[in-house]
Amino acid sequence: MFSSQIAPYLKKEGKVSYSAPSNIALVKYWGKHGVQLPQNASLSFTLSNCKTLTSVTYSKRETNSQDFDFKFLFEGKPKPSFEPKIQTFFERIYKYCPFLKDFSFVIDSQNTFPHSSGIASSASGMAALSQCLVAIEKELGNGLSEEQMLQKASFLARLGSGSACRSLEGPVTVWGAHENIEGSSDEYAVKVPFEMHKVFNNYQDTVLLVDKGEKQVSSTVGHNLMHGHPFAEQRFQQANHNLKDLAEVMQSGNIEQFIHIVESEALTLHAMMMTSSPYFILMKPETMEVINRIWKFRETTKIPVCFTLDAGANVHVLYPESVKEDVLSFINRELISFCQNKQYICDIVGLGVQKL
Ligand code: PMV
Repeated sequence: MFSSQIAPYLKKEGKVSYSAPSNIALVKYWGKHGVQLPQNASLSFTLSNCKTLTSVTYSKRETNSQDFDFKFLFEGKPKPSFEPKIQTFFERIYKYCPFLKDFSFVIDSQNTFPHSSGIASSASGMAALSQCLVAIEKELGNGLSEEQMLQKASFLARLGSGSACRSLEGPVTVWGAHENIEGSSDEYAVKVPFEMHKVFNNYQDTVLLVDKGEKQVSSTVGHNLMHGHPFAEQRFQQANHNLKDLAEVMQSGNIEQFIHIVESEALTLHAMMMTSSPYFILMKPETMEVINRIWKFRETTKIPVCFTLDAGANVHVLYPESVKEDVLSFINRELISFCQNKQYICDIVGLGVQKL
């Protein structure tokens, strides 16, 4: 469906630049099959501030070649260590982007968040690169509409790094075919087809950098451990169920239910890791301490703040904009001592890719 032969090309050279944000899943994707297809549908907030800015310069090659020709720069400097990842990505998407072997590319990328913050740059990085490639394809002469471009970019991003496909649009996207989400697909993410309750407008995500080191177990390994996992089937069903409930809650604005589903999803993700074979734990003592403090604060103040976790020790603190001041002073008073170098990142839901 996404394959396209374009010839003759309308341009011989050019440059495109886009930014793409990170995203944080509320209903988690954990377990895949086939070529990066999810075992269950997932739903995420698209973020704003944690993003990757990518420019791709392209020029027509003089001779035909069977290889790709590209250079990767990070913050303007050559970064060959990243090139095998791009090579694999290009090989995977070549049949959908046959122009890739006809041009030389220089990919120049930078992140707005600190390099070793424990925040994965794969989602924002793959989303930004995919959007650039689709924009180039458009300049070369394919006739995709704006909507088809976003869909194709999400499709390509998925092939680069699963959850990256949820970073093209916002504020909330779903990846994975789900009977309650019209237009949803295993192949790309879509914007939720409903209007959210206003309490979720400008929802805040403060990322507490509890552990900035490399993860001991990569997501790829973790996903694979869901094959033959004793709770896999129940988990996939539960996620689809939670997504249905969460979609309702996000329309009604029932924040208590929202908190219940979101925190349960985060803990279930980590429960899957702890019950894999081999088992592993990505949370740190500080992660647990932060969670307990959030629970205590919520109970005593009735302020609707909650947490979610990705595949790591960092804690995403989620709350409505209306309680921002109270929550930030709570974080500065009680949680900051559990963050490495007292670092946290304030983010907010956003709208996805932007042309630079
Ligand atoms: O996209 P991956 O392969 O890095 O997997 C992401 C997995 C989680 O972040 C834990 C959950 C999710 O849905 O984003």
